[in-house]
Amino acid sequence: MKGIILAGGAGTRLYPTTIAVSKQLLPIYDKPLIYYPLSMLLLAKIRDVLVISTPRDINDYKNLLGDGSRLGINIQYAIQNEPRGLADAFILGADFIGNDDVCLVLGDNVFYGATMSNVLADAKKKILDGGATIFGYPVKNPREFGVVEFDEQKKVISIEEKPKQPKSNYAVPGLYFYDNNVVEIARNVKPSARGEIEITSVNNAYLEKGLLNVTLMGRGMTWFDTGSPKGMHKASGFVKTVQEMQGFYISCIEEIAWRKKFIDDNQLRKLGEELEMTDYGKYILSLLEE
Ligand code: G1P
Repeated sequence: MKGIILAGGAGTRLYPTTIAVSKQLLPIYDKPLIYYPLSMLLLAKIRDVLVISTPRDINDYKNLLGDGSRLGINIQYAIQNEPRGLADAFILGADFIGNDDVCLVLGDNVFYGATMSNVLADAKKKILDGGATIFGYPVKNPREFGVVEFDEQKKVISIEEKPKQPKSNYAVPGLYFYDNNVVEIARNVKPSARGEIEITSVNNAYLEKGLLNVTLMGRGMTWFDTGSPKGMHKASGFVKTVQEMQGFYISCIEEIAWRKKFIDDNQLRKLGEELEMTDYGKYILSLLEE
């Protein structure tokens, strides 16, 4: 399975902070925002990753993440010239995806949960014979998201993008698993009223074929959409609190790469030593004393 991180967009909801800097490079507490979605791909044991960003910002991501070899993975890059919508990721990434299944994660979505590895493994498993897996997460402000509509038997009957009158409080987070048909489906999606090829249209195409799994995330899972200053601040506060209280770091990509055995002790030590001046680096080194 391949993984795509979409880190484009103008980030206008974070102006003036993002006038000169890509949103997904800004910190969530102690590490760049993109580390969080990248962690999801690593936890899903996906080792081929495509980062998509704007012509202006793509080099910053290359400087930050390189070719991925330091983490024992392979990272490639693609440029999105205009923000044409989330489903454009599959068109831009068609060659990269090849004949594989693909997981798309939005560069500004932060997830945390002790059972995340299992959730991701299940999502992957569910599409082995084709189809798509997306998630539903209860929120107070569903109007700002893709929203799941259920019938009385709790069967999913539609997904609506930013509905004025949401039919449930289950938002669809920015983490999606698709079989290889997604490339063709994305190519055939008609632009929405806001002129974008919406991920929600892709999901509805799977739903119409009876091939959409929606896994509900409940208590014990945390999801932040960090699209606003408040969202970023909330996520930062959460990460700081959990890390300080528990001593475990959230979305430390070096740790995950090591626990998943993409890199060995010596490689981890080297990564830790380079960052020894920070608590983050000290944490990486402390893992070797376990
Ligand atoms: C996008 C999707 C929406 C999804 C959200 C999750 O919205 O269009 O369906 O719920 O991401 O973060 P955006 O935040 O790009 O407006």
